[in-house]
Amino acid sequence: MKNQAMQLSFDQIEANQSFVKSEVKFNSSLKLPLFPSPTVSRFTFIDLFAGIGGFRIPLQELGGKCVFTSEFNNYAKATYYNNFGEMPAGDITKINVESIPQHDVLTAGFPCQPFSISGKMRGFEDSRGTLIYSIFKIIEAHSPKVILLENVKHLVHHNQGKTLNFIICQLKQLGYFVSWQILNASDFGVPQNRERIILVCSKKGEFNFSLLPTIKSKPLKDFLDTNNIFEYLNEPFTLIDNYKQQPSGLIFIGYRNKKIRVAGVRPGTEHLSRVHKQPNRIYSAEGYHPALPSQETSGRFWIYLNGCVRKLTITECYRIMGFPDHFIRTTNSSESYKQIGNSVCIPMVKAIGEQILDQLL
Ligand SMILES: C[S@@+](CC[C@H](N)C(=O)[O-])C[C@H]1O[C@@H](n2cnc3c(N)ncnc32)[C@H](O)[C@@H]1O
Repeated sequence: MKNQAMQLSFDQIEANQSFVKSEVKFNSSLKLPLFPSPTVSRFTFIDLFAGIGGFRIPLQELGGKCVFTSEFNNYAKATYYNNFGEMPAGDITKINVESIPQHDVLTAGFPCQPFSISGKMRGFEDSRGTLIYSIFKIIEAHSPKVILLENVKHLVHHNQGKTLNFIICQLKQLGYFVSWQILNASDFGVPQNRERIILVCSKKGEFNFSLLPTIKSKPLKDFLDTNNIFEYLNEPFTLIDNYKQQPSGLIFIGYRNKKIRVAGVRPGTEHLSRVHKQPNRIYSAEGYHPALPSQETSGRFWIYLNGCVRKLTITECYRIMGFPDHFIRTTNSSESYKQIGNSVCIPMVKAIGEQILDQLL
C-alpha cells in the first residue's frame, strides 16, 4: 500500500514540522495522495475550517482544484495530510488574506459550537462565533463567485433568528444573493438523520435548492459490516414494546439500564434521565441512525440488529457520512470519532456542488 508509507502521526507533526515538509518534497514524485487534485480542473475552491476534508473529496470528484486550505487542529491536519498530501495552513484568524489565492468557490463548515443547542448558545459573544468575520474578510478581498457554508440546523433559531439574519445581511452587503435551506443527509443516500443548514451565495442570482436530486436512503442495516469484531452490549438493556418508526426515519427501540441519576432530577421524571441520554439509547438498524455528534469520543452509538445490541464500528460511522472505506483515519480513536462527528455528509456536498456548477458557474 504505497499511501500508507506517507502516513504521519500527530506526534510526528508536533515534533517536527520540517520533517513533514521534507517528507512531502522527497516523496512527491513517488507517492500519489489517496485523493489527488484533478489533472484538468473545472473550477478552483478554498477549503476553510477544513477538518478532514469532507468538502474536498466531493468537490475534487467534480473537477474542483483546491488552492488553499485552513485548519488549526493538529490531529485533523494529520488526517488531511495523509489523505490529500497537503498540509493545511493553520489558524484562519492569523492568515494574511492577501496570501490566499483567487478562487471560484469558498467553502466553510465553520465551527458550530456557538450556535448549537448542545453548546452554551453565546453566538457572537463567543470568540469562536467571530470566526464568521474571517470568512467575511476573505470574501471582501477575493469576491469568490460562489460561497458554500454549512452549519448546524439550530443556527436558524439562535438568538431568535438574529444570528442567521446578521450573517445573511453581511453577505448581501458584500454583493451576494443568499439562498439557504435545511438539508438532511438521509435525503442523499446515507442512513443518518443529520439536518444541517446550507447557505449558497452567488453574485449571479439565487440558488434553486428544489433542483437538488434527492435519494431516500436505504436503512442502516444495508450499510453495516458483516464480517468484523463487534463490541456487543454486555449489560442489561430494555427493549420497548410497540416501537414505531419516527418521521425522521429513526426507530428508538430500547435503552441501556444505566443507573438512574436522581440528584437534581425532577421527581417522577427519573426514568427519563436514563432513557433520554443519547449514549443510553438503542436504535434499530431497520431505520436510520441519529446524527453523529462531534462531542462523542468513545463511539457509544448502540444499534439493535438481529436480536443483539452492538456498537456501530468506526468504519460504519465514516460510511454513514459517505466517506469511502479506504479513507485514512487517524489511529487515535477518540479523535477519529470527533473528526467524523464534525465533518459533513459527502454525497450531500456532491449533490450541491453539481447544482452549483449547473446553476451558478
Ligand atoms: C465543524 S468542523 C468542519 C469540518 C469539515 N467540514 C470536515 O469536513 O471535516 C470545524 C473545523 O474548524 C476548525 N477550526 C476552528 N477554528 C479554527 C481557526 N481559527 N482556524 C482554522 N481552523 C479552525 C476546527 O478544528 C474544526 O476542524
